[in-house]
Amino acid sequence: MHTNARTPHRFVLYSAAAQEVDADLDFVRRLYRRRHARAPQRLREDFCGTAKLACAWVADRADCQAWGVDLDPAPLTWGDRHYRQPLGSAAERVHLLQQDVLRARTPPADVLLALNFSYFVFQQRAALRAYLRRARAALAPGGVAVFDIFGGTGAVTATREQTMIRGARGPDGARLPAFRFTWEHAHYDAVTQRILCHMHFEIPGVRRYRKAFTYDWRLWTITELRELLSEAGFKTTEVYTHGFDKRGTSDGIYRRVKRFDNQIGWLAYVAAWR
Ligand SMILES: C[S@@+](CC[C@H](N)C(=O)[O-])C[C@H]1O[C@@H](n2cnc3c(N)ncnc32)[C@H](O)[C@@H]1O
Repeated sequence: MHTNARTPHRFVLYSAAAQEVDADLDFVRRLYRRRHARAPQRLREDFCGTAKLACAWVADRADCQAWGVDLDPAPLTWGDRHYRQPLGSAAERVHLLQQDVLRARTPPADVLLALNFSYFVFQQRAALRAYLRRARAALAPGGVAVFDIFGGTGAVTATREQTMIRGARGPDGARLPAFRFTWEHAHYDAVTQRILCHMHFEIPGVRRYRKAFTYDWRLWTITELRELLSEAGFKTTEVYTHGFDKRGTSDGIYRRVKRFDNQIGWLAYVAAWR
């Protein structure tokens, strides 16, 4: 295995393995439109990383603006170069803030998204509630905050799940070869609900990226999240889960549910209306 300047950046592999920004944006736009019969315009993306989602929000809609907030300058700088600047004149409508989500001040948003479980970084109830209060305060009246969450019996067990990700084009047009993505639950603590996760990548025969990303999180449950959203002042919360195809994997179609039989693994969106 070797490394050279032409092997893809770990942010490119991360995005191909872990992000589905078009599906996320489609979900939230439909959610908002169903309630308000108009399209949302202002998006705040908390924990935005490279802000791929914030950039996609404005890409083909001249009336949309986005604010992305992240503490870490590395993904922000990379995302600015690879996602924001290529937007041309639309880049002016994406505002990247290197700040703590607990402190960032942005214009009232129609939609706030905090995806890829990033709020799991808050491990105490008081800390998560404080963040959710800030998220609510960042919304315009009638606005909605959407959080994703995962769970299932496999989530509370030390496991490694491998997926082969198909080759594609990277953000700069360069060819991204097929690669192996491993999502590892290295440890789950049944007392504290603390979970340690790693993302590993391998381009067969070219390069391994061991522990390309590591997350030290608390695995919150949907119930806990909804209770804290309510304590933070959100009026209503809704849960959306996907169905399963014949192979037992997600069908990518999210429907509102009141109850849901546990599975080995599942993903859900929790939507909270201001
Ligand atoms: C799992 S990544 C999520 C990236 C992107 N949102 C996505 O959907 O893939 C988590 C991000 O949260 C950022 N982060 C962690 N704590 C933060 C905080 N208190 N304020 C702002 N950003 C934070 C990290 O720097 C990291 O980029």
